[in-house]
Amino acid sequence: MTTDVLIIGGGVIGLATAIELKLRSHSVTIIVRDFLSGASHAAAGMLAPVAEQIPPGAMLELCMLSRQLYSDWTSKIEHISGLSTGYWNCGILAPVYEKISRNNAQWLDKSATSQHQPNLSSEVAGSWWYPEDGQVDNRALTNALQACAIAIGVIIQDKVTVKSFIYEQNRVTGVCTTTNDLIHAEHYVLATGAWSQELLPIPVHPKKGQMLSVRVTDKELPLKQVLFGSDIYIVPRTDGRIIIGATSEDVGFTPHNTPAGMQLLLQQAIRLYPPLQNYPIEEFWWGFRPATPDELPILGASPYFNLTLATGHYRNGILLAPVTANLIADVINNKTSSLLEHFHYSRFYS
Ligand code: FAD
Ligand code: GLY
Repeated sequence: MTTDVLIIGGGVIGLATAIELKLRSHSVTIIVRDFLSGASHAAAGMLAPVAEQIPPGAMLELCMLSRQLYSDWTSKIEHISGLSTGYWNCGILAPVYEKISRNNAQWLDKSATSQHQPNLSSEVAGSWWYPEDGQVDNRALTNALQACAIAIGVIIQDKVTVKSFIYEQNRVTGVCTTTNDLIHAEHYVLATGAWSQELLPIPVHPKKGQMLSVRVTDKELPLKQVLFGSDIYIVPRTDGRIIIGATSEDVGFTPHNTPAGMQLLLQQAIRLYPPLQNYPIEEFWWGFRPATPDELPILGASPYFNLTLATGHYRNGILLAPVTANLIADVINNKTSSLLEHFHYSRFYS
């Protein structure tokens, strides 16, 4: 089989890039081992460059660009797929137990905080308000991206694993898959998240995050914005789910939720927002963030001239999907961006 561009990985990064390339008239194939095991399915979906306190620099610039693209980008995906993405420009409130100053944020004192969000812990001293941050329902987004990709003619090979690249000098000539097919393309994109080292020696490693959700039974949603505490976040969805996350663990690809992980999340979440203790628990899950040593993604060129890297998005891959798709599609169309220099794989090799 032959295609213009072969994308390995079907998380938000692979799907968003495939759609952008297809809309720019390339023939595109995605190979994906398992949609549901990716970080994109596990995430909280916060669009939170400011709440996550990303320091000023190229990464913050990349994140802000992507946040700016989100509204139009999700409208386009929703229009083509006919499915909602759950994009919600709801703002993020960061309550604190003790005031420590932060840049570029609006401080709400204790009484303004409780007016803004009733029923927070009485220990809360005040909060920082980030009105421009928001959220998307990452599972709904992934479904909509899949439907959109299929609708515009991207070919998806699901439940197939790429075992290895075939190289000829500094060029990739094909991939071997678990179905024993050889697939050839003009260009290849590596978007395999935390599993990237299986195919290429680049420093991306898994950082496990455990999560859980409860379901609100009240008629009106008790939370109308994301709560971003220290070591805990609480993300209300419009459908009544409340997502609570997340641990951050260096345990390789060790699966499962643990009692210690769940205890930590429940303790911190109930401390911050006590009404949570009474809602029915709906689900527990975990996922693997694709982390790099400097916590920045690896984007653009690789040691092979027709292999482009789109991996290592760590804590912000949902946020960074639209800007990554644009930049990677630009690279494949021979357009360069100075922003990409900061995310080049060679920064890890002297
Ligand atoms: P993934 O979604 O992991 O997709 C990788 C894909 O590659 C998978 O489909 C996998 O099956 C496939 N694959 C791997 N190897 C192969 C192979 N050899 N052959 C074929 N297919 C292969 N980000 C935010 O912006 N906001 C958040 O609030 C947020 N919360 C998070 C909470 C948790 C608990 C976690 C774990 C992550 C969170 N993230 C968040 C980070 C975000 O989820 C990731 O950065 C993003 O999903 C990475 O997307 P991806 O497409 O690169 O990887
Ligand atoms: N961005 C939230 C997380 O990675 O847990």
